[in-house]
Amino acid sequence: MENLISLVNKLQRACTSLGDHGEESALPTLWDSLPAIAVVGGQSSGKSSVLESIVGKDFLPRGSGIVTRRPLVLQLHKIDEGREYAEFLHLSKRKFYDFAAVRKEISDETDRETGRSKQISSVPIHLSIYSPSVVNLTLIDLPGLTKVAVEGQPDSIVQDIENMVRSFIEKPNCIILAISPANQDLATSDAIKISREVDPKGERTFGVLTKIDLMDKGTDAVDILEGKSYRLQFPWIGVVNRSQADINKSVDMIAARRREREYFANTPEYKHLAHRMGSEHLGKMLSKHLEQVIKSRIPGIQSLINKSIAELESELQRLGKPIAADSGGKLYAIMEICRIFDQIYKEHLDGVRPGGEKV
Ligand code: GDP
Ligand code: NA
Ligand code: MG
Repeated sequence: MENLISLVNKLQRACTSLGDHGEESALPTLWDSLPAIAVVGGQSSGKSSVLESIVGKDFLPRGSGIVTRRPLVLQLHKIDEGREYAEFLHLSKRKFYDFAAVRKEISDETDRETGRSKQISSVPIHLSIYSPSVVNLTLIDLPGLTKVAVEGQPDSIVQDIENMVRSFIEKPNCIILAISPANQDLATSDAIKISREVDPKGERTFGVLTKIDLMDKGTDAVDILEGKSYRLQFPWIGVVNRSQADINKSVDMIAARRREREYFANTPEYKHLAHRMGSEHLGKMLSKHLEQVIKSRIPGIQSLINKSIAELESELQRLGKPIAADSGGKLYAIMEICRIFDQIYKEHLDGVRPGGEKV
């Protein structure tokens, strides 16, 4: 998977340089064709925690109550080398190397838009993380669904949040992580309700059960995790995120992952499910799903690129010079694109091009 995504990243870069040399770029379409992953669920169900564990980094404000009050659109960009950093769209001149400062800026920027109240806003915060250890992906953290307004919030807030969440997850290229806490009755899960509404067949919804460690003594989530109750298209994934006490003690991601693994492996009820539980498994499932989505989009992407290559060739002909000084870059980009496509077909599509021709 890392492999296919990294090829797509290279393709994206080659297209950018083609775009830099030509009038049109296929880049936005290529970027849009990669799905975004959004988390939905009730307040404090563990949405931000799950996103953090997918990214493998501490940088989101978390806690009890309504912490996430604006959508956060997080773009991960893979860079070849160098130190990782973050950038906000609203502060484009500043590079953040300290991720605790990123977290603080998310909270401050939330307050700037909403006041330091419990108001929410549908204006997204755009954050980019550049790192050698991420894959190009868009992740979306959303305010939690709620059933009643609290002190200081207008009554319309319940519907406002629902509408905001729906506007993100109704897009067909959005993968939905439907987060439900295991210590609440699943029959009341807002995540399941709203995701069924926008994705009735469950083709792009993953059910994630958080807080398994916080279930009442004598109860367990085995029936759900085994798919015996509340069956979804994809198997449920149980996770154990960091508790508030862990966060206060700054338990790091690696230690938290290890403890989560141990929890599933050593709890008698879950032992037999341990191989398909936990944040790491969730990451792998998502990668597999993304890989399928990307494969299904490749023929479309290729026809776009072929179109821009054809446009480029006719431009070269119009210039009447086979290789003008400035077209060297274009030709290089095209050769690079063709090479990457061959590699994709060889390694990921069983060596067959869309026309049926063997690479
Ligand atoms: P959000 O409001 O849905 O984004 O939820 P957060 O990720 O902010 O989590 C809310 C609170 O629940 C935080 O204090 C987390 O530490 C805690 N939490 C989240 N998931 C788990 C879990 O699996 N186990 C435990 N013990 N606490 C969790
Ligand atoms: Na919260
Ligand atoms: Mg949150």
